Amino acid sequence: MKTFDTIAELREQLDADRSAGLAVGLVPTMGYLHDGHSSLIDAAVAANDRTVVSIFVNPLQFAEGEDLDDYPRDLDADRGLCGAAGADYVFAPAVEEMYRRAVHTVVTVPGVSAPLEGVHRPTHFAGVATVCTKLFAIVGPCRAYFGAKDWQQIAVVTRMASDLSIPVEVVPCPTMREADGLAMSSRNVYLTPAERTQGPALRRALAAGIAAVEAGERDPATVEQVMRSLLAADAPDGAVEYAAAVPADTLVASGPLTGDVRLLLAVKFSKARLIDNDGVRAG
Ligand code: PAJ
Repeated sequence: MKTFDTIAELREQLDADRSAGLAVGLVPTMGYLHDGHSSLIDAAVAANDRTVVSIFVNPLQFAEGEDLDDYPRDLDADRGLCGAAGADYVFAPAVEEMYRRAVHTVVTVPGVSAPLEGVHRPTHFAGVATVCTKLFAIVGPCRAYFGAKDWQQIAVVTRMASDLSIPVEVVPCPTMREADGLAMSSRNVYLTPAERTQGPALRRALAAGIAAVEAGERDPATVEQVMRSLLAADAPDGAVEYAAAVPADTLVASGPLTGDVRLLLAVKFSKARLIDNDGVRAG
């Protein structure tokens, strides 16, 4: 496995690979990799001839007061995991390589960025869309693998690639969980032991919401209340930022639930902020 820290060298390698007829898979990450990231690398390795994992803690997507400086980092361990999962290349640029001067060009995806995460992290998705546009421009034509845990992120990146005619196919992959149901996340290390025992309540709240829809409930407010009640009982130390039951495509509530529905949660503990989601069909 080769590690690159410059844009030019990675580009040269991938251009040569594509000229040789090889298909490229990209797994964008911010590092501190876990089995959720490995599952994306597995999917990329299975479907492509060359897989590149990018590891870059992107300052643009952190707001003032968020955890940019504390974000966990361990490049050696990450390289080990990438190698074990069969990745061919790691791209780990310094901030100065990705952002050589003040950023004037920012990619925003209004609409799908606005609800849910957008309400609580209003600048976040512009940072994500901008760095993914850069990564797609650097890597070139490829398949890019993203986790369903960050459901709204997939919607933003898919829309961005489509609107800008970028030749990258965004491939969604399932959420990987701990044995007790907590969605894996690099930020789970921020949970205190007491909070860690409450984390799996998110999964149970989603299951309760899905059960309500499957039992015929069509009022989004009632489904949201089902999820909030479970969280109030089982995750008392967490503040619910949102508990939503929304159409899977727009992510904005509009009357009774119908078709593909997405249930999404964000819960803030003392330091960790947990998100999770799942889907259900409302007949
Ligand atoms: P990061 O949080 O490191 O996540 C990288 C990728 O791993 C994302 O696509 C995310 O959805 C996926 N992922 C995280 N936890 C997962 C889990 N439990 N199961 C499956 N996939 C999981 O998301 C980002 O980084 C950044 O915003 C990025 C896209 C790299 C842009 O900076």
